[in-house]
Amino acid sequence: MMKARDIAYLVREKLHIPQDLRLADVPATLRTKPVSPSTVKDVSTETPDSMPLLAQMAVDAGDGRPFVKWWHYFGAYEDQFAELAQRSREGTLDRPLRILEMGVWRGGSLDLWRQYFGPEAVIFGIDIDEVILSLGIDSAEVRVGSQTDEVFLRAVIEEMGGVDVVIDDGSHQSKDVIASLRIIFPLLADGGTYVIEDLHTSYWPTWGGGFRRRGSSIEALKELVDALHQPYYARSGRRNSVGIERDSLRSIQFYDSVAVLRKWACPEPQPFRGGDHSRPEASI
Ligand SMILES: C[S@@+](CC[C@H](N)C(=O)[O-])C[C@H]1O[C@@H](n2cnc3c(N)ncnc32)[C@H](O)[C@@H]1O
Repeated sequence: MMKARDIAYLVREKLHIPQDLRLADVPATLRTKPVSPSTVKDVSTETPDSMPLLAQMAVDAGDGRPFVKWWHYFGAYEDQFAELAQRSREGTLDRPLRILEMGVWRGGSLDLWRQYFGPEAVIFGIDIDEVILSLGIDSAEVRVGSQTDEVFLRAVIEEMGGVDVVIDDGSHQSKDVIASLRIIFPLLADGGTYVIEDLHTSYWPTWGGGFRRRGSSIEALKELVDALHQPYYARSGRRNSVGIERDSLRSIQFYDSVAVLRKWACPEPQPFRGGDHSRPEASI
């Protein structure tokens, strides 16, 4: 039987449920959302043609450094980045794409990003665990520090020469997710993309969340849906809890457990009058 400490690590840090786990073995404090072991993806049923490219790359990682991503994330990443990643791999972008992943763990996901975004991309990973320095990770630059440390984050992004894509796969604690977004979104390049993984944690008390709980990361992100529509309603002086306003927010999209925010210098909304408005039917 697995030790409670090992189960706690796997569930808390990796959101990975061991195949042989019995619910009775899970410490009560972690039993906020039992996930069936059958949810661990069996790729033997997939063919290369049935998978998004990123999923194929993930499967092909074979005996490389370990990583864990939920299977459906690969399709979401492909939706968002297929064209950009292809151009980055081909080296046809105006300048190298700059990617920051928060949460390195054992480095496997950085290896995957290197393969996906190609040799020219500037890829950095940060983690609070110093072990990342001893893993011989050569696919990306790694730096030790917290995703909530503004001075550290600013220094890393300056070293990167700016940032175009951020992937938050760090602590998944709601307060940390919000803190990072607050600090980094203003530093993101125009047109840049900010991805937050594992938002299911925002429904779980052990990650500072709960269903419709104030202060959870998903509730904070829902506030941004209102921020995007700010010209259409009168509002109180209170800013939203993430501090992002519509003037820099192009879109916010949700997948299961993943949010994707795009940044741009947002113009005022203006209606466009198409066709000939002097035609008789225009005044019916
Ligand atoms: C889910 S794992 C990352 C997994 C990796 N991206 C992958 O796909 O395999 C989360 C990592 O976040 C790190 N972490 C936890 N709190 C953090 C914080 N405040 N700042 C940065 N990293 C943190 C943990 O040490 C752990 O390695």
